[in-house]
Amino acid sequence: MSRLESMRRRLSAQIDGLNWAAEAIGDIGGDVLELGLGNGRTYDHLRQQLPTRRIWVIDRVLQPHPSCVPPEENFLLGEADDMLQELARRGQKFALAHYDFGFGIKDLDVKEGARLSPLIAPLMVSGGLLVSQQPLTGFTKISGPDTIDPERYLFFRAP
Ligand SMILES: C[S@@+](CC[C@H](N)C(=O)[O-])C[C@H]1O[C@@H](n2cnc3c(N)ncnc32)[C@H](O)[C@@H]1O
Repeated sequence: MSRLESMRRRLSAQIDGLNWAAEAIGDIGGDVLELGLGNGRTYDHLRQQLPTRRIWVIDRVLQPHPSCVPPEENFLLGEADDMLQELARRGQKFALAHYDFGFGIKDLDVKEGARLSPLIAPLMVSGGLLVSQQPLTGFTKISGPDTIDPERYLFFRAP
């Protein structure tokens, strides 16, 4: 598979996965958490699919496409550890979290997902969903949409 084809598969998986999760949370109460703003592509997609939900975003830098800058009051600029603890202090709760942090080095990304999972868990409402390219711990792994290679994108339900 060429890198171009691989990229198309990754983008399709992201779109299908986020669409599936946005629908699957149904009327579960709570906000949405985007972990990793980056260029803002997935944030933009989430706000399109879930226009009535408040979407909080964490990133250590604010460098998205100019059309994808989150409202100031919904953006937490800083390291994930500190920002997740800040959300917990505020008592914020989430029905859906999209985990998109990453160094692009599999071993490090897996370790980071495991390290941050205990800080994400208390923020999730019971039954809330998590969508991630990295394994997360302390959640129940569930099947996502049939169109996605189960190794490419992972889906979890909060206990
Ligand atoms: C792969 S990019 C996100 C891509 C984005 N979701 C998109 O669709 O454009 C990962 C982002 O996570 C941020 N990031 C990674 N690890 C982080 C951490 N521990 N704390 C805060 N931000 C982090 C990086 O700064 C980067 O912008």
